[in-house]
Amino acid sequence: MENTILKAENITKTFISGNERLEVLKNVDLEVKAGEWVCILGPSGTGKSTLLHILGGLDLPDAGSVMVNHTNLQSINHQQLSDIRNKHIGFVFQFHHLLPEFNVLENVAMPLFIAGLNHQQAFTQAEHALQDIGFWERRFSRTTELSGGEKQKVALARALVTNPIIVLADEPTGNLDVTNTESLLVTLQRINQEKKVTILTVTHNQHVVDYATRKFWLKNGKLSENSK
Ligand SMILES: Nc1ncnc2c1ncn2[C@@H]1O[C@H](COP(=O)(O)OP(=O)(O)OP(=O)(O)O)[C@@H](O)[C@H]1O
Ligand SMILES: [Mg+2]
Repeated sequence: MENTILKAENITKTFISGNERLEVLKNVDLEVKAGEWVCILGPSGTGKSTLLHILGGLDLPDAGSVMVNHTNLQSINHQQLSDIRNKHIGFVFQFHHLLPEFNVLENVAMPLFIAGLNHQQAFTQAEHALQDIGFWERRFSRTTELSGGEKQKVALARALVTNPIIVLADEPTGNLDVTNTESLLVTLQRINQEKKVTILTVTHNQHVVDYATRKFWLKNGKLSENSK
């Protein structure tokens, strides 16, 4: 389809641990269209992070294919995959993965340095991303000084700084209290509606679903769509 941003077909992933075979994903199909906010719900350990990593080209499925912006991630080389991740996909990791030796602004600018922008361009764009999520005042703080919720905001700004076509967010409200959860979800909603950024969240927080335009359940390795 013309406006398909992400398409996964027949994704299968099994982990082997000792004598145990853990079939985490069994023939998972998912199509995400431009402008959607898709939310995948599922209890802890069902494979949400595993699926998101595969969809974002950070991990490989055992079988199946992932298309991002009409490019099959399995058919390209390592450098091309890095470029697609850098330019088109904004990733919010479950555990932030912020760099402790750098400040907030440097962390947010990092994907732009990787993309080859010079310091001035990268910092200007990073400042805009921080203004957008309301965290510009703290741009010179070390990330080690931030609370869990504040780190989550910085991680979101870093995911958005390249103007990606899709943001993949793993438990974006995982460390937040009720007020901060609400505030982060409203920010994501604004980004989705005003900037037309397509969003895919995975979470076990039911509340996130209220903001999504489509929701799915991941259970026993299978993905099923629920109407709202
Ligand atoms: N590299 C790995 N090797 C072996 N088993 C793994 C590996 N990564 C994940 N698993 C297992 O796969 C299952 C799914 O893990 P995953 O992290 O995707 O779950 P999740 O739904 O994101 O959970 P949570 O909500 O707690 O974040 C778990 O049982 C986990 O132990
Ligand atoms: Mg997880």
